[in-house]
Amino acid sequence: MAGRLNRVLVLTGSGISAESGIPTFRGPEGYWRNFDPTKLATEAAFVRDPATVWEWYRERRERIAHSSPNAAHVALVELAAAANEFLLVTQNVDDLHGRAEWNGRRLDPAQIVQIHGDIFATRCSNCDFRRRNPAEDVGAVPKCPVCSASLRPDVVWFDEELDPARVRGVQIFLEKGDCDFVLVIGTTAVFSYITEWALAGRGANGRLIEINPDETALSPLADERMRVPAGTIAGTLVEKLVDRGLKSEAC
Ligand code: OAD
Repeated sequence: MAGRLNRVLVLTGSGISAESGIPTFRGPEGYWRNFDPTKLATEAAFVRDPATVWEWYRERRERIAHSSPNAAHVALVELAAAANEFLLVTQNVDDLHGRAEWNGRRLDPAQIVQIHGDIFATRCSNCDFRRRNPAEDVGAVPKCPVCSASLRPDVVWFDEELDPARVRGVQIFLEKGDCDFVLVIGTTAVFSYITEWALAGRGANGRLIEINPDETALSPLADERMRVPAGTIAGTLVEKLVDRGLKSEAC
């Protein structure tokens, strides 16, 4: 195995899935350019028109199921294999990070925190019932087998809080110390916790690298900005970071 890295934190957004054919949210072809988020991605929208919300999530599930991880997703599996400690915090509800394979390996699920939830999971709008089997989500608005209330996609909507257990998982990783590298890939970083976690992960000694063709809210805080599509960095990213990691160890 080539050189090793000690600790690496990666934060991703919809941009990393763009080259897999999944629309971003705020880009020219993005979801929020074509749909009104308040009509589809809020609890109020679900209460008002659950069937339309389910129709949109079913379309997104279908599109994701027919998409494949791209070179950037694969590169993160290679990166995780080169790090002693690795955490991926993704805002994406798609399963492309979990499906990506490098040398027959995938990310360990414990290395992935889907901070905005999992589009293929379903939960009850009333009780604690949860399941992850889209085939069982039948009918315009699937009903809870326990309490008969409406089931909903197990994702975070605009007017909702993050799952404390997922947030705790990120904090526990951050509390273990600075990272050699924090990569922020394919996100406008509109949510403050993304910037907060990126800075906390870098600490005093790490390097914060943004991989995004465009400027973002996080750009001024980055030590390095790779203004390229995430898929293009794939082949060279790991060796660059490992090489950098070795150099900084040497000095
Ligand atoms: P956005 O659509 O806000 O931002 C996508 C980012 O990806 C932009 O900065 C693009 O420049 C960049 N991008 C596009 N193509 C890229 C590529 N090939 N490689 C690298 N970067 C690329 O999506 P997010 O930042 O993910 O929230 O949005 C954050 C959250 O807002 C989402 O999780 C969703 C949305 O409302 C919830 O679902 C709660």
